[in-house]
Amino acid sequence: MIIAKTLEEFDAALKSLGKVGKLGLVPTMGALHEGHLTLIRRAVEECDAVVVSDFVNPTQFNNKDDFNTYPRTLDSDSSLLEPVGVKILLAPRVIDMYPEGAGIDTRVFDLGGLDQYGEGPRRPGHFNGMAQIVTRLFDIVKPDFAYFGEKDFQQLAIIEYFVENLRYPLTIVRCPIARGEDGLALSSRNALLTPEQRKSAPHIYEAISKAPSMVGKMSVAEVINAVTADINTNPMLETEYVEIIDARTMKPLTDWSQAGNIQLTCAVYARPVRLIDNIKLK
Ligand code: PAJ
Repeated sequence: MIIAKTLEEFDAALKSLGKVGKLGLVPTMGALHEGHLTLIRRAVEECDAVVVSDFVNPTQFNNKDDFNTYPRTLDSDSSLLEPVGVKILLAPRVIDMYPEGAGIDTRVFDLGGLDQYGEGPRRPGHFNGMAQIVTRLFDIVKPDFAYFGEKDFQQLAIIEYFVENLRYPLTIVRCPIARGEDGLALSSRNALLTPEQRKSAPHIYEAISKAPSMVGKMSVAEVINAVTADINTNPMLETEYVEIIDARTMKPLTDWSQAGNIQLTCAVYARPVRLIDNIKLK
């Protein structure tokens, strides 16, 4: 595996692979865990060569502390990737990705209004910053397939939207949420939990897992209230929101008949750590 730390090194590394049939890309912010590895292993299986990017993107953090404390573990990331069969680990400098200056990018993306709900208003600028880096990575790597996880359900819908809207010649591959044995969705942020919070966090999945069987028997508002109350019974957890949304438009629903595909999404604090999760209802 070649570790490319500049774009020049990346171009040289890509050339050294010769002609590649299907090129796969798995964008990450590093601090790799088993959740990332499920995407990466699938990419290696389905593509002829795979690039993993490892870049903590300053423009998608609306909170400076979150950016500063985000774990940066390039050495252990590269040793995790080595045996998986990844060809290139792209770990660029901020200046490579933002040549106009550290973290400066003035491009504003059409996100089809999918950023109006859920995480959008709660993390102003997050999805536009995410679109800035993901399009930069697509432009640099020019993959045929790019892999993203349903853990970040809204992010995935937004990426699918701008890929189609901007006519990127690539296929987005949706990957299911990887969970620990206790049900907790794997996340780089789990490492920031205290042992007591870590013991409580699986309660989020336990609570949302009860929702699919409530569909039709209870109203949308009743299900939201039941799941919220269930999560909040745990003194370590505090819901920021529980929403039931149209899985295509991200718009919160008030009635089960308003959409064909329905997802429950939530953000929960184990302070100061913020965890997100989601589950399919219909
Ligand atoms: P990051 O949080 O590092 O996640 C990288 C990819 O791994 C995303 O597609 C995410 O959805 C997926 N992922 C993380 N945990 C997962 C889990 N438990 N199960 C399945 N997939 C999981 O998401 C980002 O980085 C950034 O926003 C990025 C797209 C790299 C742009 O900066």
